[in-house]
Amino acid sequence: MNINLQSFQTLETPFYYYDLDLLHETLRAAVDEASKHYFELHYAVKANANPRLLEVINRHGLGADCVSGNEIRAAIAAGFPADTIVYAGVGKTDREIRLALEAGIGCFNCESFPELEVINGLAASLGVRARVALRVNPNVDAHTHHHITTGMEENKFGFQLDEVVEAVDRCRFLPHLNWMGLHFHVGSQITDPTVFRALVDRVNDLQSFLVECGMAPAEVNFGGGLGVDYDDPDGCPVPDFATYFGIFADHFEAREGQRVHFEPGRSIVAQCGTLVSRVTFVKEGRHKRFVILDAGMSDLIRPALYQAHHRIENLTNPSGETAVYDVVGPICESADCFDKEVVLPIAHRGDLVALRSCGAYGEVMASRYNLRDLPAARFAGV
Ligand code: LLP
Repeated sequence: MNINLQSFQTLETPFYYYDLDLLHETLRAAVDEASKHYFELHYAVKANANPRLLEVINRHGLGADCVSGNEIRAAIAAGFPADTIVYAGVGKTDREIRLALEAGIGCFNCESFPELEVINGLAASLGVRARVALRVNPNVDAHTHHHITTGMEENKFGFQLDEVVEAVDRCRFLPHLNWMGLHFHVGSQITDPTVFRALVDRVNDLQSFLVECGMAPAEVNFGGGLGVDYDDPDGCPVPDFATYFGIFADHFEAREGQRVHFEPGRSIVAQCGTLVSRVTFVKEGRHKRFVILDAGMSDLIRPALYQAHHRIENLTNPSGETAVYDVVGPICESADCFDKEVVLPIAHRGDLVALRSCGAYGEVMASRYNLRDLPAARFAGV
């Protein structure tokens, strides 16, 4: 991690610290590998909507994947051309749909029959045609935490496989819809490549079937999901995009001229972000020793919500004698715990502590629970 401890010493904590050089490096790798196969990338804004990051990501020529009207606004404000924006979500409101239509976004990723009717109606009232893709639930198990698995039949997302023909028919029948193709997303933090392979196989089968029905999709969007290495952020700062895109390049039976899209979120921004905090107290319990940080679950909810693991480092005292600690926040909940029984160099009140790999779903999921202030953001690089 590229940090200047001296410059952190006087800063108020906690704050998110973003290494923009690493973000650039990650984006270059993602874009290089995707463009070898003519794949198109839409950054999943939900992973981190910090305007500085959005502006850097836009500079690398990615489109945006949004899930709310406000994300569409943020993407446009950061410079993303409206026609590179794709918009997913099971519960798009009329207001959000109207905003997206007026902005002229690239594609709605539609998730249900009633949504198709509503988009058609609103597009008619504005005198436009909406480009839509059908989000299909491929019933592929992402082998990841159950809260971030999205592509199984019991999940709320998308059309079921056996509804797709009827949904395409519906799109073709509705005069203000322009059917573009299919959209998939099976989950997040996927580290097992066979999951993507299973997705590709499922999509190949569906595509062949649709072609037989005279319904060839012009576009396919495989969503996001590529995982990052939370245990070794310095060893693996940039995810292996070559292998990831290679799976799709080697196995997806793309049709002549077909456009293939992806929506990476975590893999782009996770490793460039660190939550920097300070030790408020070290408390000796009867059975345990606690490091109490000034960051809590309001700043980073992933450990409490998904039992996620973020590497913890004592920046002030990086080496030397160690002890075993539970590292917790100040919030009045037992779930406000970042890690249990972690071996760290001896901690003292005032030490600066880093929680690594926090660039994705960190700052953007922060809340004001306990009426705490939202964490600040600081940047290295341009
Ligand atoms: N596309 C769609 C339709 C999605 O729902 C998501 C993430 C993505 C793309 C981006 O996926 P990624 O490349 O980031 O895996 N808050 C959770 C993660 C929720 C992911 C939601 N959807 C966490 O902190 O782990």
